Amino acid sequence: MKLFTTIFYLIMFLASLLSYCLFKKDKRRHKQTARLPPGSMGWPCIGETLQMYSQDPNIFFASKQKRYGDIFKTRILGYPCVMLASPEAARFVLVTHPHLFKPTYPKSKENLIGPSALFFHQGNYHARMRKLVQTSFSPEASRKLITDIENIAISSLESWSNGQVINTFLQMKKFAFEVGVLSIFGHLEKKYTQELKENYSILEKGYNCFPTSLPGTAYHKALMARRRLNRIIGEIVQERKEKKWLASNLLGQLLNFRDEMGNTLSDEQISDNIIGVLFAAQDTTASVLTWILKYLHDDPKLLDFVKAEQKAICESENGEERGLTWSKTRQMPLTYRIILETLRKASIISFTFREATVDVEYEGYLIPKGWKVMPLFRNIHHNPEFFTDPGIFDPFRFENPPKPNTYMPFGNGIHACPGNELAKVEMLVLLHHMLTKYRWELVGSTNFIQYSPFPIPEHGLQARFKKEI
Ligand code: HEM
Ligand SMILES: *[C@@H]1O[C@H](CO)[C@@H](O)[C@H](O)[C@H]1NC(C)=O
Repeated sequence: MKLFTTIFYLIMFLASLLSYCLFKKDKRRHKQTARLPPGSMGWPCIGETLQMYSQDPNIFFASKQKRYGDIFKTRILGYPCVMLASPEAARFVLVTHPHLFKPTYPKSKENLIGPSALFFHQGNYHARMRKLVQTSFSPEASRKLITDIENIAISSLESWSNGQVINTFLQMKKFAFEVGVLSIFGHLEKKYTQELKENYSILEKGYNCFPTSLPGTAYHKALMARRRLNRIIGEIVQERKEKKWLASNLLGQLLNFRDEMGNTLSDEQISDNIIGVLFAAQDTTASVLTWILKYLHDDPKLLDFVKAEQKAICESENGEERGLTWSKTRQMPLTYRIILETLRKASIISFTFREATVDVEYEGYLIPKGWKVMPLFRNIHHNPEFFTDPGIFDPFRFENPPKPNTYMPFGNGIHACPGNELAKVEMLVLLHHMLTKYRWELVGSTNFIQYSPFPIPEHGLQARFKKEI
């Protein structure tokens, strides 16, 4: 009898639990009056990817925005996406509600960079790694690197000016790579720099290729190079530990890290974050520098102005005070605005990706769990409401600060670029030497845009450099 009562109660309990769940689900359904954003999803699976890739992606997004407004849905590479082209919506995703949207990258790319790199993560681990990266790339840390960056800039320019036509983008990549290595490792033996460079360039070639573990393919070669990079970084770590040479650069920060239990980071966590930073630092900075050369070349009057600004800095130097300092890099307002305007006009990071971790309602629209969201930086930077005549390259527009949240070349919120200070300083330093001692002419056609995957002028902007005087 007792058994029967128990079973009876158990059934009652389960039934009420079930009805509670059903009811709750029902209630949820009622609450969800929010509708999906407007837009077309294209063919199932392929979606609108083909269209996006067959035309200039910027025209694709802009025409959608015109048709559907600032929030619209589409399908890219098989994933349903919601695109956000207003500053408020980008801020909602990146700044005020980042916990509802996680970073999302294809697994194959994650494996090449290293799954422990900070930008794949959220929450506690991300916050800790980010703090280390921010400390190592703070203005104070970048300040100490200026002389070393200057030496890299001087020898790069020297190597370009032997009369040969150079691919500007490729040369800028080499420059950005060396500055990246310097800021991660401090002084590093030539042998290691060379091995890192060679293997990293193999890794890079496989990054946008079809992911397959078939030997001989670019992706497979990249994976092999990635393993060798682990070994190289492992050797450097070993050496630094033996010499107890722990500096404030990123490697030093990673090696010194202890969590509240006293645990250190694993070898994988260290090398994934190092490769991650190299990856984030190189092509970005190099493509911005390439665009600066193109924009300056296209506006000879502006070029004269900025040369005058830079030459004035040399003239103010009295004998013993040669070389750049942090405070001198703060006295280049026009050069600085040229960098800001290039970041806006070229918007080399046109958008970013996140994934909704729950159903999210925004402005009456439903963003279903699992859907991707894409804040469209470029559309915001090219909206005439925020930047008058957005197609015109006009550094003087930055004499007045842009409206809040309308200018995000380095992203926004908890994943915003921690390398932005370093990036700006290394560009200022290179431009100083380039504008005071060199002339350059562009070779061949430079009017088309190539995606690498960042937009750059065609053929990487072929140029010939000459030393003045
Ligand atoms: C002009 C050059 C650069 C541009 C335009 C740029 C832009 C960006 C943007 C837009 C993001 C955010 C991406 C997102 O929210 O999904 C980002 C993140 C990041 N950038 Fe940069 N970046 C540049 C240079 C650098 C440099 C030189 C470094 C390293 C020294 C660096 C390291 C990083 C890292 C580690 C992240 C990930 C941060 C996180 O997830 O918390 N970047 N960058
Ligand atoms: C890559 O790294 C290894 C060390 O692990 C080194 O021996 C080799 O020369 C480097 N370069 C290439 C192209 O493999």
